[in-house]
Amino acid sequence: MKQFSQSCIENRDPILSVIQPLLSGRSQLLEIGSGSGQHAVDFAQAMPHLSWQCSDRLENHPSINAWLEERGLSNTPIPLELDVTQEQWPQLKADAVFSANTAHIMSLQMVESFVSGVANVLSKEGIFLLYGPFNYKGDFTSESNRSFDQWLKQRDPASGVRDFEWLNQLAEKGGMRLQGDVAMPANNRILYWKKVFRSDTTLGA
Ligand SMILES: C[S@@+](CC[C@H](N)C(=O)[O-])C[C@H]1O[C@@H](n2cnc3c(N)ncnc32)[C@H](O)[C@@H]1O
Repeated sequence: MKQFSQSCIENRDPILSVIQPLLSGRSQLLEIGSGSGQHAVDFAQAMPHLSWQCSDRLENHPSINAWLEERGLSNTPIPLELDVTQEQWPQLKADAVFSANTAHIMSLQMVESFVSGVANVLSKEGIFLLYGPFNYKGDFTSESNRSFDQWLKQRDPASGVRDFEWLNQLAEKGGMRLQGDVAMPANNRILYWKKVFRSDTTLGA
């Protein structure tokens, strides 16, 4: 049941070194697409001031639960069932959202739902941290990202490395403003935005 990912081991410390200072004053974090659950236990253990709320589609819950049960932390509640396309997101207000390696797995339409859902879940001044490979001005940042994109599309033509500019537009539409874009090992990045306004969808509601 417990899934293991070598890349989670490799990217754990570099990711933690960026997100830990950014999450120092936060208390409620929602993770989207927790996958195996490996990041969650390591990050929650390193940041005991945070409630690290995992979420994913149901098929990943057995592994997430196995990691949570094994580690037995007090700041990792049971995972929430969340497909970003579902109409009703869990009734949760978070001052932080973290997601790794998800935007390139999702279709464009899923990513739109993802970012608008994040905008609704975040409280004012909340932070959205997104880790993964991204394109800039329509270009890959490396040959390995280009090959990765081809590999993704062979598996699922709707998936693929996403454009930073498009993601940023979606975030802005949701009332978020870009605060940083950090280069990470293996041609990945961490993008992060702060929620400054209520999203377009809730304006005037
Ligand atoms: C490549 S895995 C990344 C898992 C983990 N975050 C990591 O970095 O190892 C992609 C994740 O995105 C999730 N995902 C894909 N489509 C989704 C959707 N529509 N709603 C929520 N999660 C989704 C998958 O279930 C999976 O956990």
